[in-house]
Amino acid sequence: MADPSQRTGTGWVAQAGAFLLVALVWSSVFLNPFVPLFSPHPLLQSLGVFTVTQAILILQPTWTAEEKVLGARVHASLQLLSFLLFVAGVAVIEVNKTKNHLPHFHSTHAYLGVATSSLLVVQYLFGFLIWATPGVFGGIDKAKALWKYHRWTGYAILLLLVSTVVTSTGTDYNKAVLGIKTWAASIAVALIVIGVLPRIHKRKLGLDRLLAWFRGESAHSP
Ligand code: HEM
Repeated sequence: MADPSQRTGTGWVAQAGAFLLVALVWSSVFLNPFVPLFSPHPLLQSLGVFTVTQAILILQPTWTAEEKVLGARVHASLQLLSFLLFVAGVAVIEVNKTKNHLPHFHSTHAYLGVATSSLLVVQYLFGFLIWATPGVFGGIDKAKALWKYHRWTGYAILLLLVSTVVTSTGTDYNKAVLGIKTWAASIAVALIVIGVLPRIHKRKLGLDRLLAWFRGESAHSP
């Protein structure tokens, strides 16, 4: 049984970042005129990042079999929620662009936003299939072996998500209206990353085997 103090570790740092990000974005939106076909975008996207952070944190400290089953259920439910938030948030900005005949890919944020949203869809589908239909991958054991790839891509997408948030501060609309400071958004997302990264289990990413392989050791050596 693991030391309970290990269960939380730097999680509170990530929580501080997640709350700070939502507070920053929501206060900027509501301190300015509400634009029905734009304002929901930052509101929903920041809530999406908040929910993804919770979904990651909830799984990182699972130790016992029961914790793993419950953790996976809560993770899947939170990710379903984050998926709905992102879909709604992206739909708002795309309708806005179509209705107002605005150009797509008008900023670094737009490129990163589209790339991140596309990868998120693949990641949601990948995770859902491993969890709900392991037969697709040739059985439970083969499907379980794929979780480490889901973790790698998951952490990579988290980095892309927070970069998308930081680049949103460089958009014309933010500079002219919302006024979210780049340094403030950077501090919020840095806290999320600093809180999440130390809680990653090297073994769960398959890193211990990789390191052993580099050292020329057999995976089964003591
Ligand atoms: C939370 C803070 C966010 C703010 C303040 C924000 C703001 C904006 C703004 C002003 C635009 C218009 C950009 C332009 O005209 O080039 C935009 C577009 C977009 N954003 Fe965000 N955004 C945020 C988060 C996100 C996140 C986390 C994602 C991805 C999951 C995202 C995905 C997109 C997409 C896909 C577009 C449209 C790109 C296009 O069609 O060209 N945004 N956002």
